[in-house]
Amino acid sequence: MKEMISNILARRSIRKFLPDVIPERDLTEILEAGFAAPSAGNRQPWRVVVVRDRSCKEQLASCAGGQNFMAEAPFVLVVCAVPEESAERYAERGESLYVLQDTAALTTTILLAAHYLGYGACWIGAFNEEGVSKTLKIPKNMRPVAMVPIGKIDGGVPPRRQRRPMADVVVQDRF
Ligand SMILES: Cc1cc2nc3c(=O)[nH]c(=O)nc-3n(C[C@H](O)[C@H](O)[C@H](O)COP(=O)(O)O)c2cc1C
Repeated sequence: MKEMISNILARRSIRKFLPDVIPERDLTEILEAGFAAPSAGNRQPWRVVVVRDRSCKEQLASCAGGQNFMAEAPFVLVVCAVPEESAERYAERGESLYVLQDTAALTTTILLAAHYLGYGACWIGAFNEEGVSKTLKIPKNMRPVAMVPIGKIDGGVPPRRQRRPMADVVVQDRF
């Protein structure tokens, strides 16, 4: 248990990658861990596109406003939400809320699994959705919600970014 918490605390957003190939079994493990994330009603309203092609990664980086470090990673996972799969059971709440919570849980779990296996990763959320959809030919009923470059870390691990003091963000019993 302590090891799991240490893993969570030691994770960082990594923005410098070596191009070294990652074994397929590690990618599979990362994905397996990700898909173990909770989802509302266990709908699993998600898809993950694995992008390895160099020019494709460069296009994604350009859709993300020139976050070119993404293209250096051996692969980028593009997490997509499928709102209709949540809406089938949960109507508006599923479509506008649960599907985003579910894909956020998936993305977080992917980040933690990648870190646990010794890789660096970063959640990329600032991107032009239409551009990413076009680049990857993502069907209209899906929404790319996060991109995650994963690879071996080039250089050191950045220091921990400050978190707000608990007293500012934890409310005991009521506001
Ligand atoms: C929804 C979301 C969107 C993010 N988008 C980006 C992004 O586009 N580019 C980037 O470099 N980091 C992005 N990040 C990473 C955050 O900057 C990072 O998690 C935060 O600064 C804390 O640092 P840490 O992850 O090292 O603890 C994003 C994180 C989240 C949760």
